[in-house]
Amino acid sequence: MAEFTQRVFSGVQPSGNLHLGNYLGAVRRWVELQDRYPCIFCVVDLHAITVYQEPKALEHATREVAAAYIAAGIDAQKHIVFNQSRVPEHAELAWLFNCVVRLGWLNRMTQFKDKAGKDREAASAGLYVYPSLMAADILAYRATHVPVGEDQKQHLELTRDIAAKFNHDYAERIAERGVGVPTTIGDETVNAWFPLTEPLIDGPATRVMSLRDGTKKMSKSDPSDLSRINLTDDAEQISRKIRKAKTDPDGLPSEVAGLAGRPEADNLVGIYAALTGKTRQDVLAEFGGRQFSEFKPVLADLAVEVLSPISGRMRELLSDPAGIDATLRDGAGRAREIATATIAETKAIMGLIDN
Ligand code: TYM
Repeated sequence: MAEFTQRVFSGVQPSGNLHLGNYLGAVRRWVELQDRYPCIFCVVDLHAITVYQEPKALEHATREVAAAYIAAGIDAQKHIVFNQSRVPEHAELAWLFNCVVRLGWLNRMTQFKDKAGKDREAASAGLYVYPSLMAADILAYRATHVPVGEDQKQHLELTRDIAAKFNHDYAERIAERGVGVPTTIGDETVNAWFPLTEPLIDGPATRVMSLRDGTKKMSKSDPSDLSRINLTDDAEQISRKIRKAKTDPDGLPSEVAGLAGRPEADNLVGIYAALTGKTRQDVLAEFGGRQFSEFKPVLADLAVEVLSPISGRMRELLSDPAGIDATLRDGAGRAREIATATIAETKAIMGLIDN
């Protein structure tokens, strides 16, 4: 039985500083996946502009995210690294998906509610249809696996819903054109044009929390810089932020169950685990019973050891913007070859004449 070609797609918005959450929840895991799958890693600038971005800052952030991918260990020659706006097929497929997605589905998206805040009337229309563009990013390459942090789970479920509705609405045409891939869903086998993409959300750091408040996600948009470790922070800044990180007065427990109801403790243990490739239980086996005053300096040294080479390499790469642009241009060319073929067939399936 034919199968979808396995392929990984993921992206980061160039909308501010890349932080430890983006690194541990996403980019670091991509590095591990590139030995197993062909991968496409995108700097999603069209998503960033759903909220106003100062143009010069956007250019800088786009290069900075690309530099972070490469500095973290992504092989941009073997795989594909590019910025989204250079491949117009993303926007084109997003339109086709706007006609598949239902308003009711979009209305359930918690990220829209969070980002739009109380004044929804003032949010851009782009922010509302953001998930259609995200589905287009993934399905333009008919990607089968998408490694992300926990906060993207709902968007990936919507991507599957869009793919399933498309496969269902156009089932006859897909069969007629002989392009369907038999795909088993539950006990039914359907003829799918788009795969039902699998989210890859795993490891100890799928949701890294703010260093100032363990109940809030570490985020690019938090007004307090002390809440996050940026990939561009130097050793002194990293150590200071970890020293100042909020904790409770108790020491570290010896079992994972002892982290329940202690979000700040849980977060620091999770960060340590992710930085060393261990589990929370491994970390507690080593540090259980110790005070945070002992644990924090060890964690700070570890974070500096892991992040300094990355920020150093990022600085080197960013000193040659033309070099980064050349990498993005080359990646976009290769991405476009795949995306144009998918979009041409998608349009033909839908009855949009293009010959
Ligand atoms: P973005 O730019 O907000 O975040 C990029 C990646 O970092 C993860 N992440 C986190 N992981 C753990 N802890 C945190 N505190 C944390 N904050 C962010 C995110 O889950 C994400 O994996 N909509 C996406 C970008 C996107 C995309 C795509 C992703 C656009 N198209 C297609 C995958 C596939 C976003 O805003 O990510």
